[in-house]
Amino acid sequence: MVQPEPYYTDETVTLYHGDCLDLLPLLRADAIVADPPYQQTALPWDRWPTGWLSAAAECTSSLWCFLPLRQFAVPPLRGAEFAAAGWRLSQDLEPDLDTEHDHWTWAKHNGSGFATDRFRRVHETMTHWYRGRWSAVHHDVPRVAGQPRPNAGIAHRPRPAHTSPIGSVGYTYGPTRLARSVISARSEHRTGIHPTQKPVAVLELLIRYACPPGGVVVDPFAGSGSTGIAARAAGRRAVLIETDERSCERAAHWLATG
Ligand SMILES: C[S@@+](CC[C@H](N)C(=O)[O-])C[C@H]1O[C@@H](n2cnc3c(N)ncnc32)[C@H](O)[C@@H]1O
Repeated sequence: MVQPEPYYTDETVTLYHGDCLDLLPLLRADAIVADPPYQQTALPWDRWPTGWLSAAAECTSSLWCFLPLRQFAVPPLRGAEFAAAGWRLSQDLEPDLDTEHDHWTWAKHNGSGFATDRFRRVHETMTHWYRGRWSAVHHDVPRVAGQPRPNAGIAHRPRPAHTSPIGSVGYTYGPTRLARSVISARSEHRTGIHPTQKPVAVLELLIRYACPPGGVVVDPFAGSGSTGIAARAAGRRAVLIETDERSCERAAHWLATG
């Protein structure tokens, strides 16, 4: 099998200029982080690549996907495509797109907030999917610092370490908590190099959860190369695919200098 020539490569990140439908079946990954075109705008690249979910299934058994809830509820019912490719839903997360605090304000610019007869759309949905046995799929929930309690009487009293079972899962009360399913992150829209660039901090959380340290994450829709930057920060390797040459050029520059 002829290996494609990388557009960019270093010790941790390799970027291919090409179509993920061709390249995904050639790759193996611990996890995929995908931000596919939703086909919601007239932008030339905004076309859902039919069949990419099956190609992804050849590459890995763990998949994070950015996709609005609407895409699962109205035709062409993307959920059915996930199921047809053997993907099972494990959970969904929502970045907090609070524009007042400049979180993820790019959402206003990528076509998701045009309606004036609906609540202003300030969130996106990220879903995690797996194939095969859940216990065989790497998943490690990031821990975050515990929040001080509002009740002044007990606000700063250290809580004793305590373990209690929740189902079959051990849960330890201590100075850290499981990361929450609603995630805040600063917008990239003023500083980003791609119109729908995702925050590195959010991508890093997803990668840390689904990809073991030293493992490989694949991003089939690389855009700015943000997943490569996040994988590097998390101590993982990344293989990126991007069909638009101008985006590859910008991503390669960021990866080389970032
Ligand atoms: C939603 S953007 C991804 C943005 C990226 N997550 C970031 O943070 O910069 C989708 C990207 O997928 C690319 N793309 C579209 N179809 C593709 C395909 N079949 N194979 C590879 N890349 C594709 C587009 O050119 C676009 O840059």
